[in-house]
Amino acid sequence: MALVLGIESSCDETAAALVTSDRRIVAQRIASQDDAHAPYGGVVPEIAARAHVERLAPMIGAVLADAGVTLADCDAIAATAGPGLIGGVMVGLVSAKALAMASNAPLIAVNHLEGHALSPRLADPALGFPYILLLVSGGHCQILRVEGVGRYRRLATTIDDALGEAFDKTAKILGLGFPGGPAVERLAMEGDPAAVPLPRPLVGSGEPHFSFAGLKSAVLRAKESGRFRDADIAASFQQAAVDCVTDRLRIALAATEPAPALVVAGGVAANSTVRAVLEGLARAHEMRFVAPPPALCTDNAAMIAWAGCERLMMAQFRPDPLEIAARPRWPLDPQAEPARGAGVKA
Ligand code: KG4
Ligand code: ZN
Repeated sequence: MALVLGIESSCDETAAALVTSDRRIVAQRIASQDDAHAPYGGVVPEIAARAHVERLAPMIGAVLADAGVTLADCDAIAATAGPGLIGGVMVGLVSAKALAMASNAPLIAVNHLEGHALSPRLADPALGFPYILLLVSGGHCQILRVEGVGRYRRLATTIDDALGEAFDKTAKILGLGFPGGPAVERLAMEGDPAAVPLPRPLVGSGEPHFSFAGLKSAVLRAKESGRFRDADIAASFQQAAVDCVTDRLRIALAATEPAPALVVAGGVAANSTVRAVLEGLARAHEMRFVAPPPALCTDNAAMIAWAGCERLMMAQFRPDPLEIAARPRWPLDPQAEPARGAGVKA
């Protein structure tokens, strides 16, 4: 049994966690910076990096104390090394390097997306490879075939906005503040999902890619028209978004070899409508549906520690060199070609 310390600092959550290879989250702490970024309506990279600097070291000390262990008890130090806001990633990765050096424990540089992609296996011991993964967060929107640790085939990506980004922009248009996803979900509960006619971009297209920019513009026009209740706009947006997701997943599932499980991860996986719709889709395809508990869906350090455990347990495990660099971009499937029509974000 191995104990891994995980560090996450790629966006606006500072987090540290201790996780064992037999799937116990021994201790974890997470500090959101929502209040610091709220006045700007989005994450300000410089503010985020400074907040990570202030919070991370005491947080790691607190997590070790919570668990009643010391650095010497850790079998590896895992930290997000990208993709993300580079200042924040550097804070976490440099801290991990220092701890690895001081304790002689191996350093594991984790791809943040791999943290999300493997997080369902932390929550569900029965989830084996391969599985089809919908990875939906604030910065990413992909369908992946997860064949094993470090083996990801991208089946689809977004040609413009990520799904979480669409939720955040809808929240901004409706004046719901930041971060927007949970606020849109709450307001949508009081609205009629059929009240506002909204487009379903790319639905019906033969390739399984996503697009949400047109949906966001339509939400803006609906709001500016003054003809609709905010709750109806929120509910209709959420409905259009899940319609896009199901259609795109159907195309992706038809194009790949069958897999026993459909899995969702990333911040948007915390959305109960998204989860319910995916559960139905999985049933229709005779697949098992797996979604981590909401707290494991949004950014956290347990998923980074777990990805570290998964790597550490591999027969061919090799620690990362202390010189390894933080990466603002780091695709899970380097072989994947850019989606046709993709903008700079994809
Ligand atoms: O994975 P995550 O915490 O950070 C990134 O790696 O991006 O995802 C954050 C995203 C945000 O866009 C947020 O609005 C969205 O996930 N989100 C939600 C919900 N909770 C978080 N979107 C819809 N419904 C939710 N309940
Ligand atoms: Zn994330």
